[in-house]
Amino acid sequence: MIEMRVNHQLYQIEGDGKLLPFLRDVCKCKSVKDGCSEGACGACHVLVDGKAVKACIPTLSDMDGRHILTVEGFSQEEKELYAYAFAHAGAVQCGFCIPGMVICAKGLLDENENPTRKEIAYALRNNICRCTGYKKILDAVELAAKLKREGNGIPREESGWKLGERAHRIDAREKTLGYGEYVDDMEIEGMIYASAIRAKYPRAKVLSIDGTKAEALPGVVGVYTAADIPGDVKVGHLVQDWDTMIPAGECTRYLGDAVALVAAETPEILEKAKKLVKVSYEEMPFVSSPYESMKEDAPKLHPGGNLLAHKHVSRGNAEKAIANAKYVCTEKFHTPYTEHAFLELECAIAMPYEDGVLIYSTDREPTRPSTNAPKCWGFPMKRCGWSTSWWAADLAAKRT
Ligand code: FES
Ligand code: FES
Repeated sequence: MIEMRVNHQLYQIEGDGKLLPFLRDVCKCKSVKDGCSEGACGACHVLVDGKAVKACIPTLSDMDGRHILTVEGFSQEEKELYAYAFAHAGAVQCGFCIPGMVICAKGLLDENENPTRKEIAYALRNNICRCTGYKKILDAVELAAKLKREGNGIPREESGWKLGERAHRIDAREKTLGYGEYVDDMEIEGMIYASAIRAKYPRAKVLSIDGTKAEALPGVVGVYTAADIPGDVKVGHLVQDWDTMIPAGECTRYLGDAVALVAAETPEILEKAKKLVKVSYEEMPFVSSPYESMKEDAPKLHPGGNLLAHKHVSRGNAEKAIANAKYVCTEKFHTPYTEHAFLELECAIAMPYEDGVLIYSTDREPTRPSTNAPKCWGFPMKRCGWSTSWWAADLAAKRT
């Protein structure tokens, strides 16, 4: 029996498991965000006996006898402090990383009430912000430290802003305190769960997909393949060359390709069912970099070859400028990679809506199918996006 306290409440737990799903699903502490599930982003930070820890790493048995604090367990005064400081500094953009930042800030300020900027940055070194708002986040922690030290209470948030004045974002408070809902935080009664089976090899011919054992498992709603999708539906933001699912007989192009979709009544049944789906492959040579893909003998990933796009950018009269230049040099220039730091699980929730499907998705824009759009396309959708997810919705809606 594991015993631990979460926000001062005692929990006695039989069995084991990861701390993060326990906090989110059992304790309903949705401020603890699941940004990557693998210790890379810091969105899931909690305080364990006062020290900042990423909740996606330890197991429940590691937490035996410990006290875990999430933003939900802060005193009202602390909530007001951080909500004000983060809103006032303009530190909250999408807000996904903010509760994790707040946890690390509290861990620091509880030990050091007057940290330097460098010490604040060090305390937040394991927290990624995909909106790249680090400067303002550091400003927010500095402001929180100052208000805490001075002990004169939290300034009242002004209402009736005038043009030119600094206004707090209207959703800054809910995002700082972690009760603002992202798709993964939403729970809908009677919801079923779906997840894709991804390609086992970066390039392989899918010989067969057998979902019969999985479908026989109680609680499984269905196993779906490309054959269940009417028409040839390809998606993609720049070029629509991405199969929603790879059909038997076709080739995968990378490890992320979906080959089947499983839907079940609970996440636990879903995980078991996914393991029962048998996919057989014939491995094929693959390319692992753009340079490899440019070689003449490189395997062709698409019928039209491997070149995605060739853009020529020119501004002004380049020929004349070169002809008149004192010196001319020819070089190859590369722009640096800008990794925007991926956070938040790719997920979507779909439900029957009037005569179509309503979708909540973490994506930004609709991914339009190229041809033979299925019937659900064009019906009311909210922040619709990732293709396999809306197929899941369509299929599940038909079943229910
Ligand atoms: S570090 Fe835990 S969810 Fe990313
Ligand atoms: S505000 Fe940090 S991830 Fe968006």
